[in-house]
Amino acid sequence: CALTGRLPVVWLETSDSGDNNIAFMNTTSPYLNRVFTDMIELLYSNTFMAAQGEDALALLEAAITRYRGRFTLVVEGAVPTADGGLYSVIAVTRRGPVTALEAVRRLGKAARYVVAAGTCASFGGASAAAPNPTGAVGVSQVLGRPVINVSGCPVNPDWLVGTLAHLLLYGEPELDEFGRPRLFYGATVHRHCQRRSYFDQKEFAEKLGDKECMFSLGCAGPRTGADCPYRQWINHVSWPVKANTPCIGCTNPDFPDGSSPFFTP
Ligand code: SF4
Ligand code: F3S
Repeated sequence: CALTGRLPVVWLETSDSGDNNIAFMNTTSPYLNRVFTDMIELLYSNTFMAAQGEDALALLEAAITRYRGRFTLVVEGAVPTADGGLYSVIAVTRRGPVTALEAVRRLGKAARYVVAAGTCASFGGASAAAPNPTGAVGVSQVLGRPVINVSGCPVNPDWLVGTLAHLLLYGEPELDEFGRPRLFYGATVHRHCQRRSYFDQKEFAEKLGDKECMFSLGCAGPRTGADCPYRQWINHVSWPVKANTPCIGCTNPDFPDGSSPFFTP
């Protein structure tokens, strides 16, 4: 439980661009140092840890043994399945490569909760975009158990840190039909958009930079669940529409193929 300690976390980065851990480092509620010292106990992370090679793998094995059934597995990235998963390898041992597919399956069985951080881990995302030569899929597709999908490309740090805080303090959050916490994804971007009055008045932008609603330019806000308009990004100062670009639906299961082309002239 929660109130008696930190949340033990094993963080596995698989097939993604690293954007989610960079976004995560921009957390302000609380700041990153307090996430690491007061909120989570990071047992293993092939991104954040100092240990490398066999030392790092030894820490992973120790984490599985000591925290079996108690740790939270955070996966950042999609899971390639083609050619036995060889397109994402987390380590090479004397016995051969350890694929992300193998690691996610093994850790997924031993974890208490599984959290998919970002759209690649949640649904395949950009890593699974057509023609998807690596056969990349979301984490839930290779695990026979529930996964908490914290989608976004990248994930907003509040969504990820907030989900971890919820697990720590209250257990699993209420999820929507895509396995995402309703707390962050329960309303569409469109619902709270600052340009909503233009939409309602049928006043649409003709080009990027115009102040009217960008539905005419392909804005995906009406079909995208996320609280970007009021939570905002990077110290809560801005978000796509405020920065004069349409929402491209980065939290959706069909992103990016279902949002392409991003801008409709
Ligand atoms: Fe909706 Fe997009 Fe228009 Fe905002 S800019 S009101 S999200 S369609
Ligand atoms: Fe993504 Fe749309 Fe928010 S593109 S960051 S869900 S405004």
